[in-house]
Amino acid sequence: MSQLYENPKYYEIAFSFRDIPAEVDVFEECFKHFSRIPVKSVLELGCGNSPHMEALIKRGYQYNGLDLSKAMLEYSRQKAMQINAKVNLIHGNMVDFSLKEPVDFVFVALGSLYVKSTPELITHFNSVSRTLKRGGLYLLDWCIQFNLASGGGETWEIKRDEIHVKTTVSCRTINPVEQTVEETIIIEVNDNGKCQTIIGKDIKRDIYPQEFLCFISAFKDFEFVGWWNNWNLKNN
Ligand SMILES: C[S@@+](CC[C@H](N)C(=O)[O-])C[C@H]1O[C@@H](n2cnc3c(N)ncnc32)[C@H](O)[C@@H]1O
Repeated sequence: MSQLYENPKYYEIAFSFRDIPAEVDVFEECFKHFSRIPVKSVLELGCGNSPHMEALIKRGYQYNGLDLSKAMLEYSRQKAMQINAKVNLIHGNMVDFSLKEPVDFVFVALGSLYVKSTPELITHFNSVSRTLKRGGLYLLDWCIQFNLASGGGETWEIKRDEIHVKTTVSCRTINPVEQTVEETIIIEVNDNGKCQTIIGKDIKRDIYPQEFLCFISAFKDFEFVGWWNNWNLKNN
């Protein structure tokens, strides 16, 4: 398990640049246009600190989150307690999982589709198929590689209260045939003068657009409904 996910508070600051209510607006637009069933319950895979949880609960949805990191789940549990919300937080692996009750909507945010190989990808989709009610939507945010370049790296800085977090994300190819990449996230923290560097490394299998379409069309349980850019359904 990546060291980064043992530090939910700093992770949360590092990735707090998103407009979460606007992203939840897009979820609801998708429910309206593409879900064939009414949406009451949602499941976030790789939920981590569950950034969308509060907005979803406030809009009346029942929230389920699944994650491999106990520290992240505990952090989400505390956040739910603070707003007196009843949520279902599950310790599990998104590659192979099942829930007691199927849900109406499943999503993965911020490219958090942690599968390392094609067999794992197949097992993952079979798990989602078991978990999602027929006619429900599965939304993947930033999980398909439209830009194939690896390397580079992106850096940004965010300050919250007296905590300053500098984040650098980079990616390098491990095996081009197996399409595996190593994603490195470095966060440099200055928490009220106490400095530390936290490094998170994860291996992922890249998924390219055309192979994704082939993959989905081979799955009898799934139908492709579309892809869009920058959380805007008019932008594809
Ligand atoms: C980049 S964070 C995303 C957290 C949150 N969903 C968000 O949008 O900010 C990725 C999360 O995926 C979790 N994770 C990594 N591999 C996993 C796996 N195989 N199964 C379940 N969760 C996993 C990590 O523990 C971490 O909390």
